[in-house]
Amino acid sequence: MTILAVDDIDTYYGNSHVLHGISLEIDEGEVVTLLGRNGAGKTTTMRSIVGASPPRRGSITYRGEEIAGRSPDAINALGISLVPEDRRVFPTLSVHENLTLAHNLAADPRPVAEMYELFPALDPLRKNKGRNLSGGEQQMVSVARALVQAPDLLLLDEPTEGLAPVIVDDLREIVRTVVEEEVTVLLTEQNVDFAFDLAERGYIMDTGEIVFDGTVEEIQAREDLLETYLSVGTADA
Ligand SMILES: Nc1ncnc2c1ncn2[C@@H]1O[C@H](COP(=O)(O)OP(=O)(O)OP(=O)(O)O)[C@@H](O)[C@H]1O
Ligand SMILES: [Mg+2]
Repeated sequence: MTILAVDDIDTYYGNSHVLHGISLEIDEGEVVTLLGRNGAGKTTTMRSIVGASPPRRGSITYRGEEIAGRSPDAINALGISLVPEDRRVFPTLSVHENLTLAHNLAADPRPVAEMYELFPALDPLRKNKGRNLSGGEQQMVSVARALVQAPDLLLLDEPTEGLAPVIVDDLREIVRTVVEEEVTVLLTEQNVDFAFDLAERGYIMDTGEIVFDGTVEEIQAREDLLETYLSVGTADA
């Protein structure tokens, strides 16, 4: 059953035409990755889905309902949450206030207390201000803020960027837990190993177009794709 269908969208920043006919489909319960180099259009695709950069052309349906052109709040209320690339933890609010704010904006949220079970490292930091958190801690808050909203579709935009390897391991386990709870995930990554660990299927983007889609096994078998579009060396392969 398709949960999200992006059909032939074009998205612009002002006069700058960034997405050229992007189409992708995600089934309920799937983990799908969107890969591509810097500037390929991964973030813009996610921003298009959540209504932050609405497409000028094409359609985006969520559970069969057209959402392109709706406000970000209306799209969020349907059960779609984005963890943005730049995290956007409120610097003057505490961890607990950041989570409570997201909780209070959701139609049918999870208790904030559950987030401290899922992210034990955040428990002792409840009263710490966003600005005093490390990059890894901020990313945990950013992911927890999305999950407290009990989304059906979670969009993760380069969640491992800048994180220490141990934090990346924690994050991988958290995403696995979330997937077991039947949350559907769209994940962009430059860290292809993280994406390949979690996803079953992927799309590769380049200069605002989808250049390949297939299973993770199919992508991994294509050294040419990895080298051309993902800057992954195959010297040790
Ligand atoms: N606010 C903006 N105004 C104008 N152009 C933008 C803006 N944001 C992104 N772009 C351009 O749109 C294109 C796609 O950018 P986007 O951020 O979607 O790529 P990305 O795949 O997420 O890259 P990265 O891996 O660096 O995050 C790039 O050419 C970028 O320079
Ligand atoms: Mg990006």
